[in-house]
Amino acid sequence: MIQVALCPSEIRRTSAMDLSGVTAVVFDVLRATSSIITGLASGAEAIIPVRTVEEARKLKLNDSDLLLAGERGGLPLEGFNLGNSPEEFEQIKGRRVVMTTTNGTVAIEAMKAAAKVLIGSLLNIDALADYLFRHRPRSLLLVCAGTGEEFSLEDAIGAGALVARLPDDEGISDSAIFVRSLYERVGDDVLEWLRQTENGKHLQKIGKDADIRRCAQLSVFDVVGHLAGESVVRL
Ligand code: MLT
Repeated sequence: MIQVALCPSEIRRTSAMDLSGVTAVVFDVLRATSSIITGLASGAEAIIPVRTVEEARKLKLNDSDLLLAGERGGLPLEGFNLGNSPEEFEQIKGRRVVMTTTNGTVAIEAMKAAAKVLIGSLLNIDALADYLFRHRPRSLLLVCAGTGEEFSLEDAIGAGALVARLPDDEGISDSAIFVRSLYERVGDDVLEWLRQTENGKHLQKIGKDADIRRCAQLSVFDVVGHLAGESVVRL
């Protein structure tokens, strides 16, 4: 069965569910999961997602080799080594990075009880679909991280791109049909659609249009990332 958690309140609702048989794929297309996949494709050793800035700083105090990455309001955080731009994540070969973002890392953390947690982005969408096709999880939950408390179109487009690449013979929910239809409607205009989203407009306002262009690329990386303990690493 393919299901989709479309927004933060639906993600929170999963805390009352038994996720032990669930494979979750978390999408924060603009930009957290796109940056994570870029980091893994560029040879990062591990990315450790945490909810709060305080948690990130505490981890760094205990291990000075760690890099700190993340954003609030889309902007880099005081004293952090990296913001949340995919381009910055190309520079972290061999490094372990603690990352905290408004929605993306929160959504990943929320899935910790799942049997498997995969990192979703358009950048590695075919690699993800291949992996899922080979492993055929009985229960697949696509998690759209959202923007603040809201549904975000770009994450639904990412989830739809994955549903469109998977067989639906094990069953498909209305929400999965919805995101697939959205993706089919978007067609080749992914970049234009991403630019028109709330988060896309905000990123343009703060001078991050190049990030949107990067995140809108389909299948430029043949990488699958998953959560192993506290860290996201390459599969
Ligand atoms: C988030 O996690 O909320 C996003 O990645 C925000 C951003 O684009 O910086």
